[in-house]
Amino acid sequence: MQYTPHRHPPAASRRRTRGSGPRPWRTRAGPAATGPPVLSSGVRQPRAHSNFFLHLDSLSLSLLVHASSPPSRSDTWSSSRPFQQIRKRRGLQRVREEGGDGGVGVLRGVEEMAAAAKEAGPSGCSGRAVLVTGGAGYIGSHAVLQLLTAGFRVVVVDSLANSSEIALRRVRALAGEHAKNLAFHKADIRDKDGLEKVFASARFDAVIHFAGLKAVGESVQKPLLYYDHNVVGTINLLEIMAAHGCKKLVFSSSAAVYGSPKNSPCMEDFPLIPHNPYGRTKLMAEEICRDIYHSDPEWSIILLRYFNPVGAHPSGYVGEDPCGTPNNLMPFVQQIAVGRRPSLTIFGNNYATKDGTGVRDYIHVVDLAEGHLFALRKLFDSSSNIGCEAYNLGTGKGTSVLEIVNAFEKASGKKIPLVMGQRRPGDAEVLFSSPAKAERELHWKAKYGITEMCRDLWNWASKHPYGYAASESPKLNGSSR
Ligand code: NAD
Ligand code: UD1
Repeated sequence: MQYTPHRHPPAASRRRTRGSGPRPWRTRAGPAATGPPVLSSGVRQPRAHSNFFLHLDSLSLSLLVHASSPPSRSDTWSSSRPFQQIRKRRGLQRVREEGGDGGVGVLRGVEEMAAAAKEAGPSGCSGRAVLVTGGAGYIGSHAVLQLLTAGFRVVVVDSLANSSEIALRRVRALAGEHAKNLAFHKADIRDKDGLEKVFASARFDAVIHFAGLKAVGESVQKPLLYYDHNVVGTINLLEIMAAHGCKKLVFSSSAAVYGSPKNSPCMEDFPLIPHNPYGRTKLMAEEICRDIYHSDPEWSIILLRYFNPVGAHPSGYVGEDPCGTPNNLMPFVQQIAVGRRPSLTIFGNNYATKDGTGVRDYIHVVDLAEGHLFALRKLFDSSSNIGCEAYNLGTGKGTSVLEIVNAFEKASGKKIPLVMGQRRPGDAEVLFSSPAKAERELHWKAKYGITEMCRDLWNWASKHPYGYAASESPKLNGSSR
């Protein structure tokens, strides 16, 4: 996949902004065979029959990924020498049995990502330490993999309230030689003492803050829970960052802060009128960030307003694993395709849109994750005084429900039975972004369309019909909170 030339910042902007590098890891020895130790556990163990990682240890996958560079001659993948060596390993045989592609899917994903990281990861960022809250989650796990590949050292803090440590094991395996630069702390950002310990273990150059709850319907039922995780948790984090002199932040905001704007494409300066407690927690966190910047201009904060993330890592080994009944469209569609649900109810087919169904801005999760690397580059660019700025991360294209469902049917070869239903209360008719500000100022642009999103979503879903677990997971929304 080619990058547009405007992605390259001027050479001056790639300079390191700090003279001293981060302190070395100060983590205790742990059970992990490679990479830094996992400080605490809490893994939900999958059953054997559908979990590739019970057969293929991370070393095998690391070797698979790194030994199999593209053949320079007219060799096919399977006849290249490193590939032959790896094939002899028990692990690859298992990949072939389960994935049916001899690991080529893994290679494609990792190579694309390595190329992307090379472009996105400014050389001056290499070796910097980034704390990633919520890094075991859907978007976080994709971002952590890209950060590692770009040469960052990454510490993940996650309570695993809505994720599995298996995601991080897979990230570690896909990251190959970079896996040693990943550490994990199981901690809740609402627990200040726990967070303090994490900050005492290493010095961070920046924080990417994904941790939080995101189910709109649940936020209506349990608003205090949402204010606690998303607002109190964010305040804790900001206080501890300030106390440790770490004042660079990338925050996961949402298009939910706009509510239902009158027009699309939606610009960052549109009115912020969220419709539900979830959206309000995001707006409050944004306002807190703006306030702390005004009180102390040493802060540099980028607020990323995500539109509708879809898809999975192209390897098919990292993806979205929603708890309970999915709230969002594509995780629901994916579960129909694997036989877990009978049909999709379309929430309204009488909107004033091309086919009557709602229009959204779907963005590939890999593109979205990459936006965080570009945001970090901006934060580390000594020539820019970013202050506290919001950016939309979307494609700028509106797609209807029927269009994306059709694209998924093509990608998967599966028919998605449809039922026409009522409009969902609070739904916008049309909501898509203007990503112009992110393109102009972060030099980031989404490169994938709905075809690639659906392809990669199906690749993940068909390999993992029950997500990271082997069968219908007992986890339910809120069960571990
Ligand atoms: P996710 O649920 O997969 O990931 C969130 C992670 O945060 C999970 O791993 C969860 O265990 C962890 N977490 C939750 N509360 C925590 C706490 N108190 N302490 C520590 N860890 C905690 O969600 P995601 O889709 O990856 O979303 C990441 C961020 O992006 C969230 O803040 C979400 O609100 C925001 N966002 C997501 C979407 C979307 O559609 N996925 C859209 C807009 C914004
Ligand atoms: C939802 C959230 C929003 C959040 C966003 C991304 C609501 C009201 N809004 O928005 O706050 O920022 O996710 O996480 O929940 N659809 C169906 N049938 C379904 C599911 C969805 O027809 O079973 C339609 C919806 O009406 C919409 C489109 O699919 O037109 C996308 O829905 P969804 O994935 O829930 O995202 P948003 O509505 O954008």
